[in-house]
Formats: sequence, C-alpha cells, structure tokens
Amino acid sequence: MLVAAKKEIVDDYLEMLEDLNLKPVIVDVDGFALENTYEYNYPKEENVALVDIGASKMNINIISNGVSVVARDIVVGSRQLTEQIQIAFDLEFEEAEALKLGHIPAEEKQEEIADIFSVTCTQWVLEIKKAIDLYHSNHQDAPLGRLVLSGGGSKVSGLVDFLANETGLPVELFNPFSNMTANSKKIDPDYLINIGPEMAIATGIAIRPSVI
Ligand SMILES: Nc1ncnc2c1ncn2[C@@H]1O[C@H](COP(=O)(O)OP(=O)(O)OP(=O)(O)O)[C@@H](O)[C@H]1O
Ligand SMILES: [Mg+2]
Repeated sequence: MLVAAKKEIVDDYLEMLEDLNLKPVIVDVDGFALENTYEYNYPKEENVALVDIGASKMNINIISNGVSVVARDIVVGSRQLTEQIQIAFDLEFEEAEALKLGHIPAEEKQEEIADIFSVTCTQWVLEIKKAIDLYHSNHQDAPLGRLVLSGGGSKVSGLVDFLANETGLPVELFNPFSNMTANSKKIDPDYLINIGPEMAIATGIAIRPSVI
C-alpha cells in the first residue's frame, strides 16, 4: 500500500522530536499502526472495523480476512467537543476541557453540554456508518464481526452503546495491552486499562521492529 504525506508535516514532527533530543527511527501512519496493534493482540481472521477517535481526527481502518480494505482519516475528534463548550459558555480552552472530562461539575450547563455531545457524536457515528456501509456493499460475503473503538474520544460516556445500536455491531474498547504482561509493582493495572484506548496507535508504533 502506498501512502503520501506532506513533507512539511513530517518534517515538523521530526524536528519536534529532535528538539527534544530524541532520535526518530520510524515514521508510520496512524491507521496502519492501529492495525499492527490489533493483529498483535487479537486473532487475525475476523473481519473487523478499527476506529480511533483522537483529539482532532478519526481513523477508520476496516480489516477483512487480515487485509486492510477501507482506510479513511476524517477531520473530527474530541477537541470539537471542547471547542463547542468553549463557544457555548465563552470559556478558556482548559476550563472547557475540564468540563468535558467531568473534572469540574457542569451544574446548570449540564443540559447544553449533553446536547453538544449528542450532536457531535451523531456526526461521528454517521461517518463510521458510511465507511461500514461502503465495506458491506463491496464485501457481502464477509460481514463485519465487530467494531473495536480506541482514542480518547472513545471514552465519551454512552458512545459505545450508541455506536452498537446504530451499526448493529458488537462494539468494544480497544485494549492494546491484552497480549502483554506488565509489572504491576511498577505500573498500576487500573491505570493501564484506563489509558489503553488512547495508547492503541502509540502501541502499534512501539511494537514495530525498528531498523536503526
Ligand atoms: N472521557 C473523555 N471524554 C471525552 N473526551 C475525552 C475523554 N478522555 C479523553 N478525551 C479526549 O481525547 C483526546 C485525546 O485522545 P487521543 O490521545 O486519542 O488523541 P490524540 O492522539 O492526541 O489526537 P489525534 O489522534 O487527533 O492526533 C483529547 O481531546 C481528550 O480531551
Ligand atoms: Mg491519535
């Protein structure tokens, strides 16, 4: 598979890492890194939709018989929710983010925030359904078994059930560490479970053999 990326964007990332005294050894594409993590942790043969909802973009990668057949990046994500909360209540970004995450009580803002979540999540789900419909129209003999959701946006409360209802597929949160062992004395197992969905793409890059 051939992937094109703007040189300036790649260079910006490389420069940032070098400024931090880190030596980049691999440049990868989110959707493929997600697939790597999936293959490492789950049986390959199943037909599955991998969906990662990050801060500013959503990756959809549909795997059929072990091969990626629909790969799509869409410019939506959880930052949208923060920005809409910011605009609705005229807040600084940090405060809107804290409200979104429930770190500060929403009180009288509760209803309006729920509406923002509902409208935006409906938009996300429509995009996911479009990709799934495209897949099913071309692969009638290989229906999807499930959808595995990752990224910080996957943690929006109620999204998993909403997505399952709308797509008719079993939906589960990605645990990128399910096939790995961790020293529970050094790292809290609850923390790993909690951070797992946000780590799906990073894990895919980390487990790639590097050529230095
Ligand atoms: N419980 C939650 N509800 C809603 N959003 C959340 C929750 N927890 C984290 N997020 C959001 O998830 C985003 C971070 O997720 P993630 O780490 O997957 O994104 P990213 O990889 O940094 O972004 P991108 O993939 O778009 O480049 C942030 O916008 C954060 O506010
Ligand atoms: Mg991401």
